[in-house]
Parts: sequence; structure tokens; C-alpha cells
Amino acid sequence: MKVLVLGPGGREHAIIRALQKDPQVTQVYSAPGNAGIAQQIPTYPINAQNPAEVITLAQQLDIDLVVIGPEAPLVAGVADALRQEDIPVFGPDQEAATLEGSKAFAKEIMAEAQVPTALAKIAHTMEEASEAIDSFGPPYVVKDDGLAAGKGVVVTHHREEALAHAQACFDAGSHIIVEEYLDGPEVSLFVISDGERCIPLAPAQDFKRIFDQDRGANTGGMGAYSPLPWLPENFVQTVMERVAQPTITHMKHRGTPFIGVLYCGLIITSRGIRVIEFNARFGDPETQAVLARLKTPLGQLLYSAACSRLDENTTLSWDSRYAVDVVMAAENYPDTPRTGDVINGLDDFADEEDLYVVHAGTTQQGQDVLTSGGRVLAVVGLGEDLAQARERAYEGVQRISWQGAQYRQDIALAAVQQQIAVPQQYS
Ligand code: AMP
Ligand code: GLY
Repeated sequence: MKVLVLGPGGREHAIIRALQKDPQVTQVYSAPGNAGIAQQIPTYPINAQNPAEVITLAQQLDIDLVVIGPEAPLVAGVADALRQEDIPVFGPDQEAATLEGSKAFAKEIMAEAQVPTALAKIAHTMEEASEAIDSFGPPYVVKDDGLAAGKGVVVTHHREEALAHAQACFDAGSHIIVEEYLDGPEVSLFVISDGERCIPLAPAQDFKRIFDQDRGANTGGMGAYSPLPWLPENFVQTVMERVAQPTITHMKHRGTPFIGVLYCGLIITSRGIRVIEFNARFGDPETQAVLARLKTPLGQLLYSAACSRLDENTTLSWDSRYAVDVVMAAENYPDTPRTGDVINGLDDFADEEDLYVVHAGTTQQGQDVLTSGGRVLAVVGLGEDLAQARERAYEGVQRISWQGAQYRQDIALAAVQQQIAVPQQYS
């Protein structure tokens, strides 16, 4: 099987690493990729959001499966175009991807499928916004309705800040969702779907804020770990029954089947599990931790989903170890990041089985690898327990540097210290 992976980031590098372990995958190609990916496989500098360019490349390379990493090509209709050409593709059609592309649409689907989520109001004007904000009270949760690379959400105790974010979204031509504030530990669960059946991957936890102890602005994600030792035993099954399967079934019934990864972003509150967001793709940086442990051949799994013949009874096989990944980001991320700095320490970073680097915003210039984006790379560590995996990842982080590099010190720390409080009556 020849597989083409679309996208430039850490998630795609992690997907490619996993695909290369599949004995039935003979060749993996990437478009556009990054410096780390280009060191391993052929990359093609096409615009992955342009359906015609993707089709041409897939036909030239005689591709058996296209895996779409990021949301932008999905929302641009790249999967639809590939399906029309009978090229198997893992990733939802444009309309199904609206589950991520519009939070208002996701809310509508959840209401119809009776999936538990935060109460929410849509606002198109400042008047509606301030009314909604006051009706829920603090802490205020204000979300841009559209795609915002994980940065469209403001959670704040300050009414002015909530209103300012609303204004900024309106100014940018978008509208907003105002939500009730939910309290509890967050879980990301990725569910592979073939449009009808679905299979969960191992749960992970992401760290969304830029600074330690969840301070500072929201980012795309600063680190992750998997599995979650504190999770109640029946958690995944509950999410499958109450969230994933009803959503997939409803999407099929309304004529917009969802083929790809349904990313369920969840909060465990004392009143039960609530969806805080759906995404239409693998999460980044959770994928780096989740796929580090997957033993089931990934290419075959994604191919059977793409061909609508997923075997629901498949039991995925996992490495018994824990995985932690720590993102190293450029100075000034998540605002306009500083780029173009030489990354030191990569050369002596042997690609060990339990400690390795996944590239994201990197580019090759001669002998050097330069920073070229906000989240530059992630260091993945595996260990017999979470503490060991965490130590290993941070040992790796110590070996890499560039001007202005920043990372969180507390990825997976609360879990190691057993400080995550899961509400007893959560379901
Ligand atoms: P989202 O992009 O919708 O996942 O939101 C980004 C982050 O904002 C989430 O991971 C949560 O940490 C936080 N958040 C979103 N919605 C809520 C909510 N209703 N209550 C509390 N925190 C939230
Ligand atoms: N890590 C959050 C996301 O991928 O949206």
C-alpha cells in the first residue's frame, strides 16, 4: 500500500512514523511535510488545500490511500474531490467536516443526536453577545464559531475581556458561541469511523494553555500524554455509547456520513461527561502520544475506514508503556512567533525507540534545521510508568535548544502526582 499524508505538522509526522511500522505499507509520501519528515520520506511542496493539486499528485504517485491530517484541506473539500476520483481517502467530506468548521453546526448535531454538551447561545451582534455573557455569568466562555487553530476560545473571569473577544470575532466577520463554563478534567478521545461503525483509540490529555499551571493564552496544544491512569474504567465505553456512536449514526442518517477521526474533546464534570468540541481530524499534540503506543497496523486500520469496511470487533493492540510528548514552541507563540532560528541538538539526537523528536514548524536550510512556525517540534518519551515517560521526554527537551525556545515544565505532572480529581458521580 502506498500512502500519501497531507499536512505539515507534528501530527502528520507522528502519523507517518506509525504508518511506516505497518508491514503492508510499502511507501509513505508527504505533502508538504517539514524538515523532519523530509529526512525520512519523499515530500512534495504542493498546496494541500487545493483539490486539483492533491489529485494530480495522488495519481502521479499511484497512491492507494490519502490520509488528510489538518482541518483546512477537509473544510476546503479535498476529501470530496478525492472520493469523486475513486481514490480512497481517510478524512471526512466538506459537509461532515463542518462538525469542526462551525461550532454552531456541531451544537445543532449534538442537540439532534442527544449528545451531552455545554449549554450555549449563538451571538451575531454585541448586544446579543453581552446578553448571552450575562445570562451565563462568570467565568465567561466565548468562542469564535469558525476555525481558529485552537486559538478562538477565551475563558475569562473578566467581562471586558469576554466582550473584547466577541468584538474581535465580529470584526473578523465571524460570529460567536457563548457557553456555560464547565469544570473538570479534560480528555481527548479519537474515534476512527468508516461512516457507520467506529473504534476508539486510547484517550489522551492535552495542555492547551501556553504557560505552566494552565496560565496564559490558549494554544494549539503544548504537550500530551496517554493513556490516562486516572480515568474511570468504563469511560471510553460511555463516550462511545453517548457521544461517538450517536453522532456518527446521526451524520449518516442526515446524508453526510463522517469518515475519518471524530475527535471528541470532553470534560468530566460532576454532572456528567460533556463535549466541549468536536474536531474532524487527529489532535495535535495528542497524536504524538497516542500513536506512539499503537501496535495495530495503522495503514490497514485507516484504509478499512476509508473503504467503509471497518470491523467494529477489532481490538486494537497497545504498547503497555506510557507516552508523554512535550512541545517546544518558538518565542512569542501563540502570537506571531519568531522564526528562522537554527535548532541546536538535533544531530546528536539518535532516533531511539523510546525517545525521539517529532517535527512540526521546521525547515531545512543547507545543513541546518530552522524554526518555521509556532509549535516547532515535540519530544516523545515512552516509559514503564507515566513518571518515567515524562522524565525521558524532558531529558530529550534539555538536549534541544534555539533562541527563544519555550516549553511547559508541567506536562503530565498533575497525573504523575495523582492530583487529578475526577468527579465520583461523573456519568
Ligand atoms: P475548544 O477549542 O472548544 O476545545 O476550547 C479550547 C479550550 O478552552 C478547551 O480545551 C477548554 O480548556 C476551554 N474550554 C472550552 N469550552 C469550555 C467550557 N464550556 N468551559 C470551560 N472551559 C472550556
Ligand atoms: N490539541 C488540540 C487540537 O488538536 O485541536
